[in-house]
Amino acid sequence: MEKLFLPVLLGTNRKQRNSVHPAKWLVGEIEKRPEIETKLFDVVDFVLPRDDYGQAIKDQFPEWRDAIIRADGLVIVSPEYNHGYPGPLKAVLDLLLREYVHKAVAFVGVSAGPWGGTRVIEAMVPMVRELGLAVTFSDLNFPKVQQTFDAEGKLLDPAVEKRASDFLDELVWMSRTLKWGRENVPSKFHSAPEAKESQ
Ligand SMILES: Cc1cc2nc3c(=O)[nH]c(=O)nc-3n(C[C@H](O)[C@H](O)[C@H](O)COP(=O)(O)O)c2cc1C
Repeated sequence: MEKLFLPVLLGTNRKQRNSVHPAKWLVGEIEKRPEIETKLFDVVDFVLPRDDYGQAIKDQFPEWRDAIIRADGLVIVSPEYNHGYPGPLKAVLDLLLREYVHKAVAFVGVSAGPWGGTRVIEAMVPMVRELGLAVTFSDLNFPKVQQTFDAEGKLLDPAVEKRASDFLDELVWMSRTLKWGRENVPSKFHSAPEAKESQ
């Protein structure tokens, strides 16, 4: 079967961010799977202008633009900041629109407290719907993140591995199913499937 491309977006630029550990660890888990290719994007690497916003400036970020055009799905790793998502994450997502349509999105929620980012994930669901992304059934939550990884990012809780595996299985299923749909079922959002069939 064709490989899926599922980039991971780390959604906070905070200097002492703990969310970097789950993001990098998950990329490592994805890389163990032969059916998936990934790439880690980090909002800290996006030098966003102070005086402009949105799709008008997407060509200033060609690596992100081309990755999402090619992607079959997306993983968003976000901490919960006052029950919401970080502003830089929203600014990066808002660079594109049509490029996301009918692709899967899976959420990784991170928190220092006991809820594992459940509230930020709920806050992201209506926002990504407007981007045309399709949310997976399974989230991956990291409550008490500072106890789950050591300072070097080593996973301290082996129970996470099974949850991450289930999370990725669901994302792969959704991504593959939507990829088939984009390639075979007519929609005004995709190039005509007949063209592909006649190749
Ligand atoms: C501005 C800000 C707001 C926060 N709000 C919440 C919150 O609403 N709920 C929560 O569980 N943790 C909250 N936290 C703590 C984070 O859960 C904690 O920093 C955790 O390590 C994940 O975020 P990080 O990647 O920035 O470290 C907040 C942290 C910051 C910096």
